[in-house]
Amino acid sequence: MSIDERYVEGLYARDAVLERVKEGIASHGMPSISIADGYGRLLTMLVRMSGASKLLEIGALGGYSGICLARGLGDGGQLLSLELLPAYAEVAKAHLTEAGLGDKVSYMTGDAKESLNRLKQEGRTFDFFFIDADKEGYPVYLQYALELAEPGALIVADNILLRGRTTDEAKQGPAVLAVRAFNEGIATDNRLESTILPGYDGLAIARVKG
Ligand SMILES: C[S@@+](CC[C@H](N)C(=O)[O-])C[C@H]1O[C@@H](n2cnc3c(N)ncnc32)[C@H](O)[C@@H]1O
Repeated sequence: MSIDERYVEGLYARDAVLERVKEGIASHGMPSISIADGYGRLLTMLVRMSGASKLLEIGALGGYSGICLARGLGDGGQLLSLELLPAYAEVAKAHLTEAGLGDKVSYMTGDAKESLNRLKQEGRTFDFFFIDADKEGYPVYLQYALELAEPGALIVADNILLRGRTTDEAKQGPAVLAVRAFNEGIATDNRLESTILPGYDGLAIARVKG
């Protein structure tokens, strides 16, 4: 965390629910790769401000971002979360239930690309997307998001700086190339208006025009 990020985080009261989630993630031996606290707060605000009610998350881990997303939902709003590993989805579901949000979330497990294809075949649509799974998949996830999006939908994606690898020309691995392509898509696709925030590990925020 930068000095500025640490300063900002120090302004906020501790969030006992989210701290408990981080402890639960660690106690299950899962990686400590939840979204940054500041961006978690932003997710809640974006959902609430947009009035989105049909949220799709790609990459659940232990439910930290799921809680942030679900907190912003109004009555009747729902979050569908796609997660590769059933064991992770179970931990996430338990954490959302402990947070009093269990009735707002459901999970599809397995490779998100297959889940997204199924959702497309079923004609499902969403008004908010949060992309935070395998980085190689980001360009494909963006295309699916555009296909499943209602007009005005928001598409948010975490880790677009890959802790400095995105801007390091010496790095040419598949995840880096995929995230660079994703970022270029976010910035140049005519169907989107967007911005990219370079704080923490970088966050892309786009709105589907219409
Ligand atoms: C960075 S973590 C998600 C963090 C979570 N969004 C949060 O902030 O609390 C990435 C998650 O994506 C999942 N994942 C990786 N590859 C995936 C795939 N192909 N399909 C679905 N989920 C995947 C991982 O198992 C992991 O739980």
